[in-house]
Amino acid sequence: MSGHEHQVGEDEAAALFEPPSWEERYAGGEKVWSGNPNPQLVAEVAGLTPGTALDVGCGEGGDVIWLARQGWRVTGADFSANGLARAARHAAEAGVADRTDWWQVDARTFAADGRSYDLVTTHFLHPPDGAMVEVTRRLAEAVAPGGYLLVVGHAPSEAFAQLTATHRRAMFLAEDLLPALSDRFEALVVEQRPRTTTRDGVTVDVDDSTLFARRTVADRGSAAG
Ligand SMILES: C[S@@+](CC[C@H](N)C(=O)[O-])C[C@H]1O[C@@H](n2cnc3c(N)ncnc32)[C@H](O)[C@@H]1O
Repeated sequence: MSGHEHQVGEDEAAALFEPPSWEERYAGGEKVWSGNPNPQLVAEVAGLTPGTALDVGCGEGGDVIWLARQGWRVTGADFSANGLARAARHAAEAGVADRTDWWQVDARTFAADGRSYDLVTTHFLHPPDGAMVEVTRRLAEAVAPGGYLLVVGHAPSEAFAQLTATHRRAMFLAEDLLPALSDRFEALVVEQRPRTTTRDGVTVDVDDSTLFARRTVADRGSAAG
C-alpha cells in the first residue's frame, strides 16, 4: 500500500467516528445493537440503589431501558439524533418512556453545567486519538457527591488486529483513564474483564476495559459541619 492510500484509509476510518457516519448507521430499519444491557453495567449497577443516571453514547438505548426497568430515572445522551430517536422508540415499546429522557450532545465537548447524576455510565463510545481521558474527565464532572462513574470500552487485543491504526488508537485500558479522576473519586474497579462474544457469527474473546469509581460524599478538604 502506498503512503497516500494508507492516509486515505486512515482518513476514512477517522470519519467513522463522527456524527454523519453514526447518523447513517442508525438511519436504516435494521437494529444495530442487541438491545441487551452491557454485562459490566449489570455487574456493577444491579446492587445499587436506583436514583438518577446519565448514559452517554447510549445508541439504541439498551442500557437506558435496563436502568429504567431497575427503577432509575435515566437520561440517554448521544450525538446521533437518529440513534436517540430509535432509543426513545424502544423505551416507549418497553413501557419506560416516563422514566427516560434524551439529550443530543457530543461527549468531547459535553459540559455538566450544573447537572448531576447518581450514576454516569458510558459503554464503547471510543472517541479517536486518545480523547477518552478528556471525555472521562467531563463525565466525572456530572457525578453527584456519593454517586458513581462507570466507563467501559474495548481493550486493545488480537481480536482487533485487522482494524485500522485509527480504530486501535481509540481503544484504551482502564488505567489509562485514571488521570481523569480528581481526588474526589475513589477508584473501585480498574481492570480488563474478559468476555466472549460473537461477531459476524464468529466467537471472539475480548477484554472490556472497566473503570468504576465513586465520588466521595463530601469533597475532601471542605469544612466539616
Ligand atoms: C459502539 S456504540 C455503543 C452504543 C451503546 N453504548 C451500547 O453499548 O450498545 C457508540 C455510540 O456512541 C455514540 N457516540 C460516539 N462518539 C460520540 C461522541 N463523541 N459523543 C456522543 N456520542 C457518541 C454513537 O453515536 C453510538 O451510538
